[in-house]
Amino acid sequence: MFINTFNIHEEIKTKAIAQELSKISKKGDVFGVTGNMGSGKTTFIRHFIQRISKVKTVPSPSYNIILPYDSNKSKVYHMDAWRLKNYNEALSLGITEMFDDSIFLIEWAEKIKTILPNNYLKLSIKNIKNKKVLRLEGDKKWKIRLKQLLNYDKN
Ligand SMILES: Nc1ncnc2c1ncn2[C@@H]1O[C@H](COP(=O)(O)OP(=O)(O)OP(=O)(O)O)[C@@H](O)[C@H]1O
Ligand SMILES: [Mg+2]
Repeated sequence: MFINTFNIHEEIKTKAIAQELSKISKKGDVFGVTGNMGSGKTTFIRHFIQRISKVKTVPSPSYNIILPYDSNKSKVYHMDAWRLKNYNEALSLGITEMFDDSIFLIEWAEKIKTILPNNYLKLSIKNIKNKKVLRLEGDKKWKIRLKQLLNYDKN
């Protein structure tokens, strides 16, 4: 279900929302990020990971496909599905076995959405005219968990 949209025209807004989501994230969460090339998927995930792990550098995993991080909550995986031909390639990487025990963030998530858990949080970044908008979609539980974020100043 649709949860909310946020104006993320400035990167500092992307950062604020990424950090809020990071704060409330827990083991078993899957975040599927979609958006055109260069829309800000890696930037969003970078701020998310920097908030819960000690690392300073969070590169794009477009060549490694999956990069692992440690956090005080659980293992964190940053995946980029761009180079995968289909979801079978993702299955053979064993990602579905990683979901339960980690916080899992995926760029180009729409490419493998068939194998994502039903309760994943969908984040879509869109450039509309000269604005950048982040749309969140998730189930009822996500809506409750994101209550604080819904009060976030959108302007
Ligand atoms: N509001 C914003 N949120 C996120 N990034 C922004 C914003 N405004 C400008 N940027 C810039 O846009 C670029 C986004 O690049 P980024 O690598 O995050 O995109 P991407 O969607 O991961 O690209 P790719 O499709 O190649 O994986 C960065 O240089 C970032 O600094
Ligand atoms: Mg990227």
